[in-house]
Amino acid sequence: MLTAYDYPTAKIISNTGLDSILVGDSLGMVVLGYANTLNVTMRDMISHTRAVARANPPQLIVADMPFLSYEIDTKSAVKNAGLLVKAGSDAIKLEGGEEMKDTVKAIVKAGIPVMGHIGLTPQRFLRLGGFRTIGKTKQEEEQLIKDSLELEDAGVFSLVIENTYVDIAKRITEKLNIPTICIGAGPYCDGQVLVINDLLGLSEFTPYFAKSYVNLKEIISNAINQYIVDVKNNRFPEKQHYKERES
Ligand code: KIV
Ligand code: NA
Repeated sequence: MLTAYDYPTAKIISNTGLDSILVGDSLGMVVLGYANTLNVTMRDMISHTRAVARANPPQLIVADMPFLSYEIDTKSAVKNAGLLVKAGSDAIKLEGGEEMKDTVKAIVKAGIPVMGHIGLTPQRFLRLGGFRTIGKTKQEEEQLIKDSLELEDAGVFSLVIENTYVDIAKRITEKLNIPTICIGAGPYCDGQVLVINDLLGLSEFTPYFAKSYVNLKEIISNAINQYIVDVKNNRFPEKQHYKERES
């Protein structure tokens, strides 16, 4: 699984063997330039989900529920989940553990598949005390196990485990019947997810658990600099780039 936030990226992904696309609220940070995901709105998520869905990829599209779109009450959570499905997603993802049980149940009851997300839940970084690895204390570890079992019981079809210790993700994966999809939680999971900007070398800050497969930042800035040099030296536009009238 990889994130995607726009039409051209989803078009490229369409012709790969990737299983699923996450329209993540990470778009707030990697596309919109916010310092965290708290400012991402339903409007943002709908707009970017639509753009991805217009590419009509064969992959499963999961859209993130943004901060405050599902925490207030189950009615508004179901409504907002439905708006993301109407925008073109096949499923939604929301952050949180056992406290989200009723919300998950209500959304699933409406016919919308729900993906869970535990471990580091970035929408709660203020209460967690920053973007940190979760599960250091025995209490935190046992809470993660409990959360995963409760979410499975509530009906999530899959679970993202973000930034926890490798043995905890392994324990959860062995306990659950549904697939675990991990980021910063080691190899003993059923699948992996990355932010595509990290994979492409486009991010300002790449976390230690992400891997860049290409340095697109460098490739793009080189292309821009070549264009500037060409224009200044009259090497662009060339004959094939403009039309001359026949006299
Ligand atoms: O928003 C996002 O990109 C995510 C993934 C990191 C799982 O939630
Ligand atoms: Na997210």
